[in-house]
Amino acid sequence: MDRIRIVGGKTLNGVIPISGAKNAALPLMIASLLTDRTVTLENLPRLADVSQLVRILSNHGVDYSIDGRRQGEGSEAGQTVHMTAREIVDTTAPYELVSRMRASFWVIAPLLARCGEARVSLPGGCAIGTRPVDLLLMALERLGGQIEIEGGYAVAKAPKGLRGAEITFPKVTVGGTHVALMAASLAEGTTVLHNAAREPEIIDLANLLNTMGAKISGAGQSTVEITGVARLNGAKHHVLPDRIEAGTYAMAVAMTGGDVLLEGARAHDFQAALDVLVQSGARVEASDAGVRVSRNGGPILPVDVSTAPFPAFPTDLQAQFMALMTRAKGVSRITETIFENRFMHVQELARFGAHIRLDGDSAVVEGVPVLKGAPVMATDLRASASLVIAALAAEGETMIQRVYHLDRGFEALERKLSLCGAEVERISAGG
Ligand code: EPU
Repeated sequence: MDRIRIVGGKTLNGVIPISGAKNAALPLMIASLLTDRTVTLENLPRLADVSQLVRILSNHGVDYSIDGRRQGEGSEAGQTVHMTAREIVDTTAPYELVSRMRASFWVIAPLLARCGEARVSLPGGCAIGTRPVDLLLMALERLGGQIEIEGGYAVAKAPKGLRGAEITFPKVTVGGTHVALMAASLAEGTTVLHNAAREPEIIDLANLLNTMGAKISGAGQSTVEITGVARLNGAKHHVLPDRIEAGTYAMAVAMTGGDVLLEGARAHDFQAALDVLVQSGARVEASDAGVRVSRNGGPILPVDVSTAPFPAFPTDLQAQFMALMTRAKGVSRITETIFENRFMHVQELARFGAHIRLDGDSAVVEGVPVLKGAPVMATDLRASASLVIAALAAEGETMIQRVYHLDRGFEALERKLSLCGAEVERISAGG
């Protein structure tokens, strides 16, 4: 297994190009199952989760081709892929494939809407909490799907097709909203979603579906209306920039000091996180080129933060922000309201000398003047990013084990950081 070695203490200066968003790429790729025409996605990030989803979609019959690099295109440019599900050859998504990535459960929606049947393995738990799928299944049932749980699989049927309905989510769910958007696009009649998720990735999926011929209005608001159509066409779509990747590097710069342009990032996609960074003493400037983050000289100030659905502070940046607060001048309280077990990074951050106490759904972080490099272990994707941030500011060497978690969601992390002056290298399994 690869490891990442970081020697801390360098400031970050330069430009970091922001990749296409993982959490948009996954539902956009899954939407290719809705049509027999070609869906072309530009700016698709090179990530382990994207490759894993390709395997899952291929199993259902999606042909996949990827464009070569064009002349003048930088090595950081995202990929352009063409996906065609001319015929769905298999409506089962097996345990071996789904258990490795939760979002792959979402294939249940296009399979049911297009083929009238789907058999998809339940995703099970994961490191950050139990993460049930009851609300996704509720949405499909409201649309007329008949669902049974058999042998660890959700078996869904809609022999006469889906029909529009009012769906009220008792809790905001990103996956539930993605699933409802895809299924309702091919249902007969009109669907109205209440308390829908408003994340930028929801808008990105709705934009692709509308280009494919769907009739969705209100995406990005709590109430979304979808008028079903009989069939969807192919489309070409550019994946939006990754706000979580951008937010992670923003926090890294706030931690080490320096001045970095997060090229292509859109400030309004992670404004809550940027506002918190400004309160912590960083400087933030948004422009057409991206978002520039700097901190020169001043102390890191403590800020209390609570995670909540968009547009509030995202749970996917909670661990990274906690890393920053370990060096703050004072005490901060970080509350996690989305996932019940998303504090796996606390014990690893303690290995750097951080002072963090857990108090129910909150972590109380008492800033320390110095962190010291240590051997640490990545536990989940975003927790791993928090270890990178701590390591960049720590004295001496840190060795991060199990970096396959990072490879799921951060494209070329060590290259992007090295180009800005960090001392970071990947040590491959054989080396
Ligand atoms: N929930 C239910 N029942 C459901 C679905 C969700 O109780 O049927 C609960 C969850 O347990 C959680 C809350 O609702 O407490 C919100 O979960 P949501 O459905 O919004 O999460 P998700 O769709 O499974 C996506 C992202 C996550 C991100 C969350 C929250 C993707 C592929 N995943 O997950 O990203 O943390 O939304 O913003 O888009 C990551 O990238 O590291 C990651 C975990």
